[in-house]
Amino acid sequence: MFKKIKLDYSTLEPVINDKNLDLHYNKHYQKYVDNLNNLIKDYNGSVIDVIKNIDSFDKDKRSQILVNAGGVYNHELYFRSMNDKPYTNNKLLDDIIKQYGTYDNFKKLFIDTANKLVGSGYTFLVLKDNKFDIINLPNQDNPYSYDMMPLIALDLWEHAYYLTYYNDRLKYINNFFSIINYDYANRLYEENK
Ligand SMILES: [Fe+2]
Repeated sequence: MFKKIKLDYSTLEPVINDKNLDLHYNKHYQKYVDNLNNLIKDYNGSVIDVIKNIDSFDKDKRSQILVNAGGVYNHELYFRSMNDKPYTNNKLLDDIIKQYGTYDNFKKLFIDTANKLVGSGYTFLVLKDNKFDIINLPNQDNPYSYDMMPLIALDLWEHAYYLTYYNDRLKYINNFFSIINYDYANRLYEENK
């Protein structure tokens, strides 16, 4: 049985308002968790296992399982990608600066990439072959399906920001960037490098 992760709205309040978060967490994310539980009962692995082993499921259910597992994983990474605590320097940030030259280069590339996404999807910081990449994926596609490891996720579906920012998606993208949880991303990075 897949269960929702906990989310403390107050830590994200400066960037996304309560009503917006409540709908996102209790309606949109909840729907993917419920759908996945209905599709695969009594599964013993993680959501990542589902995505990585999608070929082991019934052919006629596979696409539905994948979209809902992606919906669960992507939302969990997105919610965990934000917090209101100032970040401390870590291995991930050191290596980001090594690859991109400066933090500002990384920031500009992340924001420019997110700004270019057309339609619903996510911007991810991923690791592929020990190098970082910043990519957009449509709908609930997940980097694990492409042999990439996601470290940070930005939800760019309208439901993620519309009640706070209306049509000003770029402001949402910029504000998201200001509360990225590099401690969590670094934990994923150090565990799996
Ligand atoms: Fe979402």
